[in-house]
Formats: sequence, structure tokens, C-alpha cells
Amino acid sequence: MASARKIIIDTDPGQDDAVAILLALASPELEVLGITAVAGNVPLALTQKNARVVCELAGRTDIRVFAGCDRPLKRKLVTAEHVHGKTGLDGVALPDPTMPLEDAHAVDFLIETLRREPPGSVTLCPLGPLTNIATAFEKAPDIVGRVAEIVLMGGGYFEGGNITPAAEFNIYVDPDAADIVFRAGVPLVVMPLDVTHKALTSRDWVEGMRSLGTEVGRAVASWTDFFERFDTAKYGSQGAPLHDPCVIAYLIEPDLFTGRHVHVAIELEGTHTLGMTVADWWRVTKNAPNAMFMGSVDRDRFFALLTERIGRF
Ligand code: RIB
Ligand code: CA
Repeated sequence: MASARKIIIDTDPGQDDAVAILLALASPELEVLGITAVAGNVPLALTQKNARVVCELAGRTDIRVFAGCDRPLKRKLVTAEHVHGKTGLDGVALPDPTMPLEDAHAVDFLIETLRREPPGSVTLCPLGPLTNIATAFEKAPDIVGRVAEIVLMGGGYFEGGNITPAAEFNIYVDPDAADIVFRAGVPLVVMPLDVTHKALTSRDWVEGMRSLGTEVGRAVASWTDFFERFDTAKYGSQGAPLHDPCVIAYLIEPDLFTGRHVHVAIELEGTHTLGMTVADWWRVTKNAPNAMFMGSVDRDRFFALLTERIGRF
């Protein structure tokens, strides 16, 4: 097998972030250089703790977990306890982590790693607001050209928003950071709500997780059960949208997804549209494409991959 792809997961766990982290840790195609926590679904004190809870659940206390930015670049932090619960990882009760949090700030870890590793060898996988990534790019512009690719969960176009009618949560929380990242010129693959809302769990799949009879299977089933109730109430959909695992699944099997390479701008002024990802899907402007904006997923193959990998724990 070719050498594993080096990635850094930037995350705000979050039940779906947790499933994404497990998928990455179960996949030999990927080498997780570190996990950087950011404020988002819940405050930083909880996202950095939850990231370590997930690593310990996976038996991976070797993974380095860093705490990053505790608020957006310019705006007040907006959190999503209404979706993820007050701990951010509501569902099965898991023990507090004993593995240490790294001393270094996540932004410094991002900078040092990108400066150390060969140019074009590290992929960034943001699963939450883009505050850490944007801060690293602003603090050390020399690292921008060294990033192989950014594969992120965020935004929405045909699907609209989930935190406002126009904006998706990760982008809305820190639109200024998103604007920096979308303008940086790094090759970008975006998993918006347009595709993640098609990655809905089924009752059978959740019960399949539970019937694995493992700690990990039970946790995944309980997280998706908890996480599902928000979307069911809001969209009437059956199942929890596995937003963040789409990012990791893409790294393992990119052809699970289809989309379009288009220009995507971040709205920073709109009274009603702040944080909207304005995707030029019909190419009506002359703006050069800056993102592979995904629109669909082979749902059955996506869940088959998840089942096989989660089953490895
Ligand atoms: O809008 C969905 C995104 O916001 C996901 O990444 C979820 O974990 C939250 O961060
Ligand atoms: Ca997330």
C-alpha cells in the first residue's frame, strides 16, 4: 500500500465529529498527525476534552490533541448545545479522559507541522469553524503554499442553511475565518449540507452499530440516536446527517462523492445572509473556481465503508 496520507483533523466534537475521528483512526490509508480542537458546537474546554474522550474510546492515547482558538476571529461565539447537548457529546456516558492535552497551542502545532513536513504532504481536515486554520494562515503566511489540500465540512447552497436560513453552522460561527480560508488559494474540497444531508443514518444502520457489541459501536449508536432528534424535528427527515464523516470518507474513497469545481464566496455583510457560501454553481460570474463543492454521495457505499471501518475497533 502507498504510504498513508498525512492529515490534521481540526474539530469541534460534536457527535458527528466523533464518528469522523473514529473513521480516520480506523483507516490505515490515513496518518493522523494530530487533532486540533476549536470552539464551535460547544466551548473549547469541552471540544478539546471530547476529542480526547474519542481518542481514548478508540484506544489511541498516542494521538496528540491540541486546544486552539476559543472564539471566532471577530465575532461572538455561537454554540450548538441545542443539537449536540450540553457536553457536546451527549449520548452514552463515557469516562473523562486521562490522556494529556498537549501544551502547545493548536495554531502553533499547525504552523510547526506544515513547516516541518515536506511541502504538499499534509492535508487539513476542518470539521468545525475555521478559526484555527485562518489564524495559522494569518500568523504564518509561508505555510499556505505548503498545504496539500483542505477537505472541510461547511456551507450549503441548494440546501440553504441550518443555523440561519442562509448559513451553515461552521461557516456562520466564523465567516471571517472562512473568508480567509476560501480566498487562500489552497486546493479546497467542500462537503456542504447539499451532500451531508444525504448521508442520513437509517434505523437499521444504527442498530447494526449497536449489535457490533463493542464500546465503539454502542457509542456511535447512542451519538447518532441523540444527534438525530434535532434533524428529525427540524427537517422531518428520518436519520442523523453524518456531516463530518463525509470529509474522512472522501479521503478514503473520493469517488463516493460528486460535485462541481466552482467559485465559492463567503458572505460577510448580509443582514440575512451572513456566513452564506455563495456558490457560483451555474458559473454566471467570471470568478475562478476555488472549491470542489460536493452535491451528492453514494449513500449505500458510504455507510458500508463506515460499518466496515467502525467494525475494526
Ligand atoms: O452544520 C454541521 C456542522 O456543524 C458539523 O460539523 C457539526 O459538527 C457542526 O460543527
Ligand atoms: Ca463539527
